[in-house]
Amino acid sequence: MIRINENYNQLKASYLFLEIANKVAQFQSENTDADIIRLGIGDVTKTLPPACISAFHNGVEELSSESTFKGYGPYNGYAFLREKIAQEDFQKRGADIDADEIFISDGSKCDTGNFQELFANDITIAIPDPVYPVYLDTNIMAGRAGDSKNGRYKNIVYLDGTMENGFIPQLPSKPVDLIYLCFPNNPTGAVITKSQLKEWVGFAKEQKALILFDAAYEAFIRDETLPHSIFEIEGAKEVAVEFRSFSKTAGFTGTRCAYTIVPKECVAYNESGSKQLLHPLWQRRQSTKFNGVSYPVQKAAEAVYSSEGKVQIKQRIDDYLLNARIICKTMDDLKLNYVGGKNSPYIWIHGNGRDSWDFFDMLLKKAQIVCTPGKGFGQCGEGYIRISAFNSRENVQSAMERMKKIL
Ligand code: MLT
Repeated sequence: MIRINENYNQLKASYLFLEIANKVAQFQSENTDADIIRLGIGDVTKTLPPACISAFHNGVEELSSESTFKGYGPYNGYAFLREKIAQEDFQKRGADIDADEIFISDGSKCDTGNFQELFANDITIAIPDPVYPVYLDTNIMAGRAGDSKNGRYKNIVYLDGTMENGFIPQLPSKPVDLIYLCFPNNPTGAVITKSQLKEWVGFAKEQKALILFDAAYEAFIRDETLPHSIFEIEGAKEVAVEFRSFSKTAGFTGTRCAYTIVPKECVAYNESGSKQLLHPLWQRRQSTKFNGVSYPVQKAAEAVYSSEGKVQIKQRIDDYLLNARIICKTMDDLKLNYVGGKNSPYIWIHGNGRDSWDFFDMLLKKAQIVCTPGKGFGQCGEGYIRISAFNSRENVQSAMERMKKIL
């Protein structure tokens, strides 16, 4: 008899963004004329930068001749891309990361979801609340979360984010083994300072724990005092893995390209308490289950680091950040409290006593705006909504006008 993985029965019925997509599709089918503005899922709307398009074309062209054709690529990604990443994203910021420590992949969603496979099933996990649902859901699937009561899982140590702590959770008060952090944060848009991040690195060292640091939104940082990478913190290489993505940086949400940094000295412990390096374990996992990102896509990603690519990317991100400022200004006018939107494409808005799904429904029905209900990111998200700045200026402006009319 074929039996299921019972852990799947512990999950909420639907993945958050699928649940929202279904609700919006239902609304659209009942209101065919509705001009819906989507500020929900953080999906980019601007094209790939011309520098990436041109490199993409050239990459495809190379596949048309036997002399330049490529079959399977290197498991960890082509050296031309890994070397650029190491120099431009890390070494130039004083973070000593080598090209060999970089694994190219098809997305940070997959990598943040898959990385937990390397660890024992009875480890204790600290997860922020609110949180990008992938971190929690993949640990539930693996059977680490335990039973749930009132929306919280017994074996998870929750790191509460609130207006009071500016959505920067405090260090856990009990021992934990694996810690998920994301800065600039999805969903709240909150950012962490170097000294705050230093405390987390120190805590991980003390606990012999590991930090999974999701930096998918680092390109939105405009405050130069903020860290772009956890590896800007001394000693982090032993206790942290970092996830980066071209999705939001360069518009690759559909094209798919990301990278994960597993430093050579990063460790976990085996049953007898001896250190074991994570780099060869992740290498083993990826080479078994993953066959790389296509050559033209990696060529397109490499163009992100060309001089034209850098200018085009900055223009795109500045444009989204201007949308974010327009959203923040509207929230100021409406006297709604919020965080984010300055070094992040997300604005996390307090609904002044509104239930987050009610607020979502009201915006959809009365203003045809899609947002993301805070509760979907965890219990601490109740009472909040997230608005994304990923859309055209015109749509963001219309959405804000519509919000002003109904609130
Ligand atoms: C989000 O809206 O939170 C993101 O787009 C989700 C993702 O990147 O997978």
